[in-house]
Amino acid sequence: MSETLANLLQENRRFEPPAALAEAANVKSDAYAEADADRLAFWAKQAQRLDWAQEWDQVLDWSNPPFAKWFLGGTLNVAYNCLDRHVAAGKGDKVAIHWEGEPGDTRTLTYSDLHKLTCQAANALTDLGVGAGDRVAIYMPMIPEAAVAMLACARIGATHSVVFGGFSVDALSGRIQDASAKVVITADGGYRRGKPSALKPTVDEAVALCPTIEHVLVVRRTGEPVAWGDKDHWWHETVEAASTEHEAQPFDAEHPLFILYTSGTTAKPKGILHTTGGYLTQASYTHHAVFDLKPETDVYWCTADIGWVTGHSYIVYGPLSNGATQVMYEGTPDTPHKGRFWDIVDRYGVTILYTAPTLIRTMMKWGDEFPAAANLSSLRVLGSVGEPINPEAWMWYRKNIGHENTPIVDTWWQTETGAIMISPLPGVTATKPGSAMRPLPGISADVVDDEGRSVPDGGGGFLVLREPWPSMLRTIWGDDQRFIDTYWSRFQGMYFAGDGAKKDDDGDLWLLGRVDDVMLVSGHNISTTEVESALVSHPSVAEAAVVGATDPTTGQAIVAFTIPRGSVDTAGDAGEALIKELRDHVSKTLGPIAKPRQIMLVAELPKTRSGKIMRRLLRDVAEHRSLGDVTTLQDSTVMELISDGMKSAK
Ligand code: WT7
Repeated sequence: MSETLANLLQENRRFEPPAALAEAANVKSDAYAEADADRLAFWAKQAQRLDWAQEWDQVLDWSNPPFAKWFLGGTLNVAYNCLDRHVAAGKGDKVAIHWEGEPGDTRTLTYSDLHKLTCQAANALTDLGVGAGDRVAIYMPMIPEAAVAMLACARIGATHSVVFGGFSVDALSGRIQDASAKVVITADGGYRRGKPSALKPTVDEAVALCPTIEHVLVVRRTGEPVAWGDKDHWWHETVEAASTEHEAQPFDAEHPLFILYTSGTTAKPKGILHTTGGYLTQASYTHHAVFDLKPETDVYWCTADIGWVTGHSYIVYGPLSNGATQVMYEGTPDTPHKGRFWDIVDRYGVTILYTAPTLIRTMMKWGDEFPAAANLSSLRVLGSVGEPINPEAWMWYRKNIGHENTPIVDTWWQTETGAIMISPLPGVTATKPGSAMRPLPGISADVVDDEGRSVPDGGGGFLVLREPWPSMLRTIWGDDQRFIDTYWSRFQGMYFAGDGAKKDDDGDLWLLGRVDDVMLVSGHNISTTEVESALVSHPSVAEAAVVGATDPTTGQAIVAFTIPRGSVDTAGDAGEALIKELRDHVSKTLGPIAKPRQIMLVAELPKTRSGKIMRRLLRDVAEHRSLGDVTTLQDSTVMELISDGMKSAK
């Protein structure tokens, strides 16, 4: 990765935090020095944000790396920290969740409401024989009961494994089997794209393959008819009939809180294990620091699904431990119209919005008129997560959603890291469009070369984490060796995240995507992210995906799949002219070496259900192979369209 392109290092736009926000910010610049002076003391201080039943004796035990133990000897209850303590502090009537269903139905749940429901669910699970250490699978739509189910497990010390509601029978049954789960919590279905989308039939098929499942708890959401078996219990007949009194017991700081499977594209999914005290400490601190959450006045909205780690840390555990008021939305962003998100922002007065680049680029494609029709003046902090955000998508977000005066926090982290690791602080950092900037206070990230040596400013290489952090994964469920092999063997004594990155001349970090996606063209390493960003910087482009296809002369050649912005004419000659213009544009921006061999104009890109572009499939198309596994695709028809287009372009 030594020979890299220089364009990103030339970004010279800077955006200072608004003065008033900086003045009142939760976290100021001194946090960095404080954490540098004594990292463990810094994290011990952040752990004091929580209520511990028993304080820890030792902050970190790293005597047996890579197996970390944080806050040894400490005990606490996660649900108590997210609910009971707020109610006890007189905030029971504060709104915890403004929920909105896709059809437009709404529910308002206060901290007391959420507390009572969670106590009922904890009692019901206990009655079903679930105890501390048992595993519970959760397969739910985006309804408040999803958060309640997670909190109820946490409350009784059961380890939850949330499986995204769009996953198949195979994915669900495989995850249930891997963790030997005892109970599944689900719903009849949820609303997606204007109609009910069933979940229970998938659960029925999966449970038939999983003898460990003793009970299935079913929330009635859509009211569609469902098949009913001996193991099934309606939520409204069990949970809602249970006592609202439940006393939370404290658990050890290292008690397993949840397993979440990462969607490896080829190998068996990895059950990432997170524990109690360190996880909640970092989820809570980062939510407070990165979003500058003021619980009394902010209305926070994270658009993720609880099936992803973003939903775990930044819908459930971070915001609720901080006593936030938040919006939770069930459905898709274009139902019934493409301005749905902006309606929601205006209606609830959302002040902090956390979403993904894929959504931002989709909004760019739909056109500026949708956000322009809304007011959006309540917004004061914008966040991004999931993929590198191209500089021009960042600028679009700032201008069209953030009315040019809202800090953007581009947050880098992973399922494995549990919480945000690299991000600007909204009241401190002068941001650069497309850069995640610096590791947060208390986090030591670095960029290293092939040999694991730190690269100087201006250099590129592999992103690593040098020191353990409180919310780090503890292992891969049931497979310690795979944990060591996957994350700790590439570089001695360092966690390797799998991402490439660059340090610019100021030492700020630019994430370049997965190292597997780096292309080798005539001996030059070129990151897909950089070429995609160059394409998106052209005013006619909303989104682009770039892959390296085998090429007899250059080794690999760059093939780009590009989605034009809504208003752009691409019919006939206009399309040909645009393709030529785009190839020249990339060549001009990045240098002739990065000029794509081929550019395809497409209407959609293949994405995983969490919105990441599946470059593997595009590589299959670019190399004229039959398609590999498409089961994790969000929309399987997309690939047919792209393959057909590719054939006609030949
Ligand atoms: C991978 C982790 C973190 C929650 C959602 C994804 C990519 C994530 C960024 C960012 C550049 C990013 C990385 C990372 N990624 N955030 N701000 N800039 N890349 O969790 O599914 O575990 O994916 O997402 O490649 O390794 P995940």
